[in-house]
Amino acid sequence: APAKSASRVPPLPEVPKDSMCAILQHLEAVFERAVRVAFPQHTAPVNTQIQLSKMADYQCNVAMALAKILRQNPRVVGQAVLDAAGTSPLIANMQLSGSGFINITLSTGFIREQVTRLVTHGVTPPPLNKRKVAVDFSSPNIAKEMHVGHLRSTIIGDSICRLLEFLGHDVLRINHLGDWGTQFGMLIAHLQDRFPNYLKTPPAISDLQGFYKESKKRFDEDEQFKVRAYKAVVQLQGHDPDHINGWTMICDISKREFNKVYERLDVKLSPYGESFYQSRMEAIVADLEQRGLLEQARIQEDETDRKDDRKFMYSNTVEEPQTVMPLIMVKSDGGFTYDTSDMACIRYRTQELDVDWLIYVTDAGQLQHFKSFRAAAARAGYFNSATTRMDHVMFGVVLGEDRKKFKTRSGDTVRLVELLEEGLVRAEAILKEKGRDEALSQQEFDHVKEAVAYGCIKYADLCHDRTRDYVFSFDRMLDFKGNTAAYLLYALTRICSIARTAGVSSGSLLTEARKEPMQLEHEKEWKLARTLLKLPDVILKLTEDLYLHPLCEFLYEVSTVFSEFYDNCYCVEKDKDGNITKIHTSRLLLCEATATVFKQCLAILGIKTVERM
Ligand code: ARG
Repeated sequence: APAKSASRVPPLPEVPKDSMCAILQHLEAVFERAVRVAFPQHTAPVNTQIQLSKMADYQCNVAMALAKILRQNPRVVGQAVLDAAGTSPLIANMQLSGSGFINITLSTGFIREQVTRLVTHGVTPPPLNKRKVAVDFSSPNIAKEMHVGHLRSTIIGDSICRLLEFLGHDVLRINHLGDWGTQFGMLIAHLQDRFPNYLKTPPAISDLQGFYKESKKRFDEDEQFKVRAYKAVVQLQGHDPDHINGWTMICDISKREFNKVYERLDVKLSPYGESFYQSRMEAIVADLEQRGLLEQARIQEDETDRKDDRKFMYSNTVEEPQTVMPLIMVKSDGGFTYDTSDMACIRYRTQELDVDWLIYVTDAGQLQHFKSFRAAAARAGYFNSATTRMDHVMFGVVLGEDRKKFKTRSGDTVRLVELLEEGLVRAEAILKEKGRDEALSQQEFDHVKEAVAYGCIKYADLCHDRTRDYVFSFDRMLDFKGNTAAYLLYALTRICSIARTAGVSSGSLLTEARKEPMQLEHEKEWKLARTLLKLPDVILKLTEDLYLHPLCEFLYEVSTVFSEFYDNCYCVEKDKDGNITKIHTSRLLLCEATATVFKQCLAILGIKTVERM
């Protein structure tokens, strides 16, 4: 057999020339390669176990686990890995210690160059394979209230879009509006009764909620109305012009309400509602039927008066071995369901839009639905996990401060526009308490108020593990101490003001940065620099599992490390009379780099920053 092992050894990893370097990722590649070179007989995947370290900058602990597998002395294994590691522009020095740890000291020149690049070029993401991504988020239902669950989906989805856009992916922001269901039958039948003239003189149903409730009541109580409502759905889905007219009217009212929320939060979305897929639903049902993938009545029907002629699609097969619920593709009256629309929709996205990454942001309650239709779509060949990535980004329930489901005092769903308005009022009160209204112009103050209010609502949602339930508390999210947007926005203004008080413009700082590499003599300078440079690794990690809280944790860490630096290192020295005697340009550059990192992280989280507050 040809000597395969030699050709399998990957080359030394390269350091990107035109962007920041993901240091951890690079070190992992260096040591993975080293293991391959040192132990070609070991072909299994390698976990290099590289961590930040107190002893040096990073530490590689691969030798211990590897020694066990190879039944060799860990120190000997460690030395062999070290010898095989080769050279890297990132590494100044490597040392074996203890029972086989490899301590890695980063090159000062490299760190300087990277921090300087932050100031001159901003945060430049490391190169990666670009994908076309459909992010399905927000997706409220027309005529029903957009609730806090949709708010979470909107905030998390928008942040994921911003992250992927920043990384250069081609991102489609899709609002999968619930605009085609049974509720329209009820609404249109009710509309016909209340406003018989609605086609000629369209009514202004300002209270669409009330209207919805009335029609729902009739639907539940009046058998005849129910029959008419179901008929109306069928007519609507058959595109009868009058029904389409009523439908359009209702959709417009709802969309206007939704847009108020999106505008306030600065979230961009393209609406592709369930209705968009009507003809495609017809097509896939025909396709699946013809291929024998639809079945009738494998489920016992308990409504005795109705024979089950629904059509199901089962898929607990190869792709998803554990039992998944079947999808209902066609109802007894011939109508389609949420399942049908998602099947049509996934095919549209993979085959017509040519998307190779699908992301859905919904509450965790829909886990089963997503498992089912993923499996069914795979079985139907509409989705291939080998070429397309699919993530169901799910999140927990929003709770009130009483730890019960978030509701108004009267027990109603909280209206989002009102919630956002309350955020503004509360932010305003807190800022006035701090006398900010006197320090800022009216225009600046309004800007700060919005940045703080909406920033805090977003950050509170994004800063912890999204799969957990979370308690909505204005008091906590607007606290200026602790891990909140209010604190971080304020910290940023302080960082920005350091250079300003020194009278150094960012233009001259930039020139300075281009002239000579910054000094990083003080331990706290080095620590800050090293912390800032973790950003590319943090960002790459975010794209692996689409959890955003590590970015918030990182940002908070940067603010803490910055405080340590600022407490220990003078940036500007003054004499007794307050005259500036010395400016440490290099430190001002570090401040500038910190501000750059702050702004980029907040931008990914969808939070607007302010210069002064
Ligand atoms: N309209 C749904 C809801 O309010 C969310 C839709 C999510 N997207 C999807 N393709 N199923 O729960």
